[in-house]
Amino acid sequence: MKRILVTGALGQIGSELVPALRAAYGDDAVIASDVRAPAADARQEPFLTLDCTDAAALAAAVREHRVDTIYHLAALLSATAEKAPQKAYQVNLGTLVNVLEVARESRCALFTPSSIGAFGPSTPRDPAPQDTVQRPTTMYGVTKVAGELLCDYYHRRFGVDARGVRYPGLISYVSPPGGGTTDYAVDIFYCALEQGRYSCFLSADTQLDMMYMPDAIRAAMELMAADPTRLRHRNAFNVTAMQLTPARLAASIERHLPDFAIEYDVDPARQAIADSWPRRIDDTAAREEWGWRAEYGLEAMTGDMLEHLSLKLGRPLPAARR
Ligand SMILES: NC(=O)c1ccc[n+]([C@@H]2O[C@H](COP(=O)([O-])OP(=O)(O)OC[C@H]3O[C@@H](n4cnc5c(N)ncnc54)[C@H](O)[C@@H]3O)[C@@H](O)[C@H]2O)c1
Repeated sequence: MKRILVTGALGQIGSELVPALRAAYGDDAVIASDVRAPAADARQEPFLTLDCTDAAALAAAVREHRVDTIYHLAALLSATAEKAPQKAYQVNLGTLVNVLEVARESRCALFTPSSIGAFGPSTPRDPAPQDTVQRPTTMYGVTKVAGELLCDYYHRRFGVDARGVRYPGLISYVSPPGGGTTDYAVDIFYCALEQGRYSCFLSADTQLDMMYMPDAIRAAMELMAADPTRLRHRNAFNVTAMQLTPARLAASIERHLPDFAIEYDVDPARQAIADSWPRRIDDTAAREEWGWRAEYGLEAMTGDMLEHLSLKLGRPLPAARR
């Protein structure tokens, strides 16, 4: 039987990955953990309060629960990391080293997400290839590139079954995003339904890769189940589903909510981060090596997001949705 530990499980990805893993492997097989405790009414066992910067506590948890696979999601995201770079270094790289060490000692398989933030202004922007120049200008990006290399190193040097993807911005309705540069693509849906308007912190034509959460969860689980002999890359597979600009996303929402209006109040810090990232990434390697294929494009994602969020927020959609 599989024994899976998910770190950072209360975040945007973990909130949906944990139920998906529990549906696939059984409730008891998946131990959720986070540095913070869940709200009492949302607590779903098994859950551990676990700070992954504490190597001893992490190793004890892996031993005690006989963990054989770790999904390591604990991190500080791009915009948050830029506000507290020293802490981001400590959390993003400190926890990864601890997780890699415990994976080495206890022979665990390991999934670690990297990000489009691992690219920088000197990366070819459209598209960014799988193997290319990576000179990011943010602390988040620095920790992501170093993390990709560390995971490759632990695989080559110690045989750790480390795998990972470079996620684009992720869009979901279950949990709020955790302080990333692509958060606008979630915020816009809440504001559209609650206020009928949205003030966007990126400029209208800022194009970035995005993905709907069900695809992101499937990517993680499919990569971990992939035949290792087919994987020429192991960590940091580019994966994408769509290229969005705020204007394109707003137009898609407007097709459902005709009175919706977007305005722009650009935040220089987040705009600078977005401008240092590619406009499109090339995910051919993921397609060829483990059969990656996104299911949701812009229109399917917008329809599904509005349907679920309107129920969650108790804001019915207009009857004459196109
Ligand atoms: N969400 C995205 O759009 C996106 C895109 C690309 C990559 N990623 C990557 O995916 C991973 C998960 O992202 P997310 O969106 O779920 O992030 P999130 O910010 O929503 O969640 C991260 C979780 O980690 C927890 N955490 C922070 N420090 C910790 C520590 N020391 N020990 C244990 N837990 C700790 C936080 O409490 C939080 O619940 C990260 O590595 C992130 O860089 C996310």
